[in-house]
Amino acid sequence: MSNDRIQPACQHFGVCGGCKWQNLSYEKQLEHKHIVVRDVMQRIAKLDVSVLLPIIGCDDVFYYRNKLEYSFSDKRWITNEEAASEKIINKNPALGFHRPGYFDKIVDIEECLLQNNKTNEIRNFVREYTLENGYTYYSTFFHEGDMRNMVVRNTTTGQWMVIVVFGREKDNNIVHLMDAIAKRFPEIDSLFYVVNTKKNDTLFDQQMILYKGKEYIEESLGKVTYRIGPKSFFQTNTRQAIRLFDIASGFAECKATDNVFDLYTGLGSIALYIADKVKKVVGIEEIKEAIDDANINKELNGIGNADFYTGDVRDLLNPDFIKKHGKPDVVFTDPPRAGMHEDVVNTLLLLEASKIIYISCNPATQARDLFLLKEKYEVTAIQPVDMFPHTHHIECVARLDLKK
Ligand SMILES: C[S@@+](CC[C@H](N)C(=O)[O-])C[C@H]1O[C@@H](n2cnc3c(N)ncnc32)[C@H](O)[C@@H]1O
Repeated sequence: MSNDRIQPACQHFGVCGGCKWQNLSYEKQLEHKHIVVRDVMQRIAKLDVSVLLPIIGCDDVFYYRNKLEYSFSDKRWITNEEAASEKIINKNPALGFHRPGYFDKIVDIEECLLQNNKTNEIRNFVREYTLENGYTYYSTFFHEGDMRNMVVRNTTTGQWMVIVVFGREKDNNIVHLMDAIAKRFPEIDSLFYVVNTKKNDTLFDQQMILYKGKEYIEESLGKVTYRIGPKSFFQTNTRQAIRLFDIASGFAECKATDNVFDLYTGLGSIALYIADKVKKVVGIEEIKEAIDDANINKELNGIGNADFYTGDVRDLLNPDFIKKHGKPDVVFTDPPRAGMHEDVVNTLLLLEASKIIYISCNPATQARDLFLLKEKYEVTAIQPVDMFPHTHHIECVARLDLKK
């Protein structure tokens, strides 16, 4: 056995799809992530990797997440040990995480070490209550069942949001469960439910119904307070997000005269974080509710020089928009895993901002886009940041300077 192997702390290791690298020392995990970034930047972006900085690890390798999404299933995953044992297998439904490679099999989770332990208390209570009271769990085969998903979010300021996703409304099943959760966990600040009767689990197009408390929870990053609504993306590792934004802001070397664009702004996270350093910042995001939150966050923090727009970056970042807001000096871009559409890359090449700060959660698509941007830009620094210990995920900030 390799010396780099360690005893995984989690009882579900090897079965759950969550933390597959938990048997590798954290030092080795970081080393491996650094190598992955170096390889894609060499192979796909064709970069001289002397610009690659040492990866920044997390101080807390457990309990670092502020959001977990659980699924209910009528099919519990049976472990190899159970299958091989002589014991009668109890095929209870399950509430937990997906078994890797099986969209319909859920590993029943008793304790997850990724979020504050209250997440375990809430999830286990919901499982106990629903099973005791005859709620059915969702079948992806028949597309039926009372219980579908559950999202638990929290903040470093101690606030909690819970969203329970039902598959149907029947015989007051919603009221009974929501009342039970509210009674058992009065500390939940924001309690929502959704009735999702579609075949897929996505929630962005679903109506979120506030059952109790506030419509948001609040998080602070540096000087900025963010209201986070149930549909808004927020960086999942709060402490590391501060580091990420400080790196991005440091790379940008923003000046009081700068006009800044923040593409894929979410609820305005980066735009609001750097607003006090620049003349004006404009954020673009496709989820309307996130832009609503961005506008509230702007008011909440008394920020007068930020404007937010809803739409696909590919459509919105057009000549009229640029005429209206002026050419940017600095562009922050933080796209989803798929990276930027080639049209967006081409628009950036036409815009010729002095600096582009490209934040990415997928170094391979980032490397692809960097390769295209090299036509006019020099990549002067790449900073990998580990936001997700025990997983293969890597966040990376690249600084691009317009060639003279
Ligand atoms: C990785 S998140 C970054 C959010 C934000 N920068 C932050 O740090 O919190 C990507 C964001 O892009 C949004 N998004 C995805 N595709 C988009 C598109 N084509 N146009 C505009 N926004 C998009 C998502 O809704 C999400 O909020």
